[in-house]
Amino acid sequence: MTRKLFVTTALPYANANFHIGHIMEYTQADIWVRFQRMRGQEVHFVGADDAHGAPIMIAAEKAGKTPQQFVADIAAGRKTYLDGFHISFDNWHSTDGPENHELSKEIYKALRANELISVKTIEQFFDPEKSMFLPDRFIKGECPKCGAKDQYGDSCEVCGAVYTPTELKNPFSVLTGATPVMKSSEHYFFKLSDPRCIEFLEQWTQTPGRLQSEVLNKIKEWFTKDDEGKGGLGDWDISRDAPYFGIEIPDAPGKYFYVWLDAPIGYLASLKNYFGKLGRDFDAFMADESVEQIHFIGKDITYFHTLFWPAMLHFSGRKTPNHVYVHGFLTVNNGEKMSKSRGTGLDPLKYLSLGLNAEWLRYYLAAKLNAKVEDVDFNPEDFVARVNSDLVGKYINIASRAAGFLAKRFDGRLSADLGVEGRALLDTLRAHADTIAELYEERELGKALREIMLLADKVNEYVDQNKPWELAKKEGADAVLQDVCSVCIEAFRLLTIYLKPVLPALAAKVETFLKVEPMQFADSARALGAHQIGVYEHLMQRVDPKLLEALFEPPAAPKVVPGGEDLAPEIKIDDFTKVDLRIAKIVKAEHVEGSDKLLRLTLDVGEGRLRNVFSGIKSAYKPEDLEGKLTVMVANLAPRKMKFGISEGMVLAASHADEKTNPGIFVLEPFPGAQPGMRVR
Ligand code: MSP
Ligand code: ZN
Repeated sequence: MTRKLFVTTALPYANANFHIGHIMEYTQADIWVRFQRMRGQEVHFVGADDAHGAPIMIAAEKAGKTPQQFVADIAAGRKTYLDGFHISFDNWHSTDGPENHELSKEIYKALRANELISVKTIEQFFDPEKSMFLPDRFIKGECPKCGAKDQYGDSCEVCGAVYTPTELKNPFSVLTGATPVMKSSEHYFFKLSDPRCIEFLEQWTQTPGRLQSEVLNKIKEWFTKDDEGKGGLGDWDISRDAPYFGIEIPDAPGKYFYVWLDAPIGYLASLKNYFGKLGRDFDAFMADESVEQIHFIGKDITYFHTLFWPAMLHFSGRKTPNHVYVHGFLTVNNGEKMSKSRGTGLDPLKYLSLGLNAEWLRYYLAAKLNAKVEDVDFNPEDFVARVNSDLVGKYINIASRAAGFLAKRFDGRLSADLGVEGRALLDTLRAHADTIAELYEERELGKALREIMLLADKVNEYVDQNKPWELAKKEGADAVLQDVCSVCIEAFRLLTIYLKPVLPALAAKVETFLKVEPMQFADSARALGAHQIGVYEHLMQRVDPKLLEALFEPPAAPKVVPGGEDLAPEIKIDDFTKVDLRIAKIVKAEHVEGSDKLLRLTLDVGEGRLRNVFSGIKSAYKPEDLEGKLTVMVANLAPRKMKFGISEGMVLAASHADEKTNPGIFVLEPFPGAQPGMRVR
């Protein structure tokens, strides 16, 4: 029976380009999907941008765009990544599409009809200047535990304390700097604490084989109340007040669905949009019991996918996910923390633009992935080793060693006989098809590749024992040479079938070279026989480790820096040390008669004498605000005679290049502890 598979990956926030963590998730799902397609299953693999929410609304405003334009611009950049890494989504859509607006409202209404929606008045921080309720991330203040300044509303980055925004000392709005006020508002809740929900979720999550065991353990924690009766499943706040970029809640003007309500519905919306293009019946498909709905996600969003999402679906009378497959996080260079939005040193587009082969990365990630919720580390040396010694050294080389002789001596014709030893080798390779298929099915990608590489080892042993290069020189050994090379090519074909989910572009090249139709998994059971193959062209290069160095080199300084001013030409450290920068104490500051720009500063640079310096900072500072402060000066500048006297140095200050239109002068001040006369280096 053909399986019907509806497969998704998490919908990325449309406020940034993909980072390497996204690419890992898509690669994992794509390999699984391609494997299923090769097995003849009916697969619908869809994704979409997660367009809604306050952060995107605010980012759009900052960029001077409408939220719609902002997310459209991000969406326009997706294809380069997806094509570049051979991610074979059947459709890519947006949670702001009409299908999602419609489906979200439908699902909400069904939940409401089922008496699972309640309305409660809650108090929340409100920015009076912006007239907007503030999400936790948009409130900062001093940590209630350690007093650290400039901490977010949910947790302290200095001492790790977790709290609510109302506990912050001296809170302020990140958007306007205003002090937020408490304001009450009606919010809509999904009654997850309803006994029906709890009962359903217990049964749904515990269904054998549905979820990974680590995920089940986490879920148990979420279900359990502590001794004080806290914890357990609480009702879920699903509404946000205008202004909000999202979907308006039916019969609740000015209220919008919280982004996480409509985001997973975006899975259905993308499929519906796709079926619209195909002219297929979406409702009939989703009503089909035999359809398997499978979500690939990262560990951070497990809660939404294993509790809220199945409950929303079930109580709106819909099919629930068959599996939620959770993966760990990708780290780079030994766990260097990767920011969710900014990613890490490994920029996927830079990877491609340096000419690194996308399938090297696919192979490497696959080699590291398993069915557990484990983090995966990208390590450059490991990457080079696996690609060069395994992928190229063990697998690609099989073809390159045999193809030449076949082309030159036998016009590309394979022999059908192959010899006893050769047939035994090929039987061994074929006998592993089921094991390899099972490993793919279970997402044990690393194990699948290990299995395949062990088979490649066997083929290489066969080559080493039969030495085609010697047979080629031996009189009367033509038939044997043709057999041995034919065995190699047939073995190479089998290995290519096994690797095809991971290396789709390479497999396509091999199909051209072998002159065969696109290979399905079942093609491993048959033999090529007396077939004529095409001309071998180099299939895959080794990685040059220098490319990886280049990949991790910090990006070159942009020509135009944020201040709007071009960077000065590069200098050497010696050039810099010629400039003697010193900490100076501003002993005295006074107006200069006849000058509307300059202040006269008397500076102590720890020399046992005082210096006189004129500085063009009058527009920004009152003399009394400067006196007693420390700053930084250029102390070895040749004295300069000015209209008002001699200036014996220069005080450092920051400003925009276009000071007239973009005013502001900021004198540098060292951190506490610096002493007059200390050198700045
Ligand atoms: N928009 C939500 C998901 C909504 S799904 C209905 C979201 N977006 S995200 O862009 O932050 O993350 C998208 C996916 O990328 C998630 O599955 C997340 O776990 C995954 N990853 C984000 N960083 C990652 C790594 N460093 N490594 C691997 N996957 C990571 O969450
Ligand atoms: Zn703290």
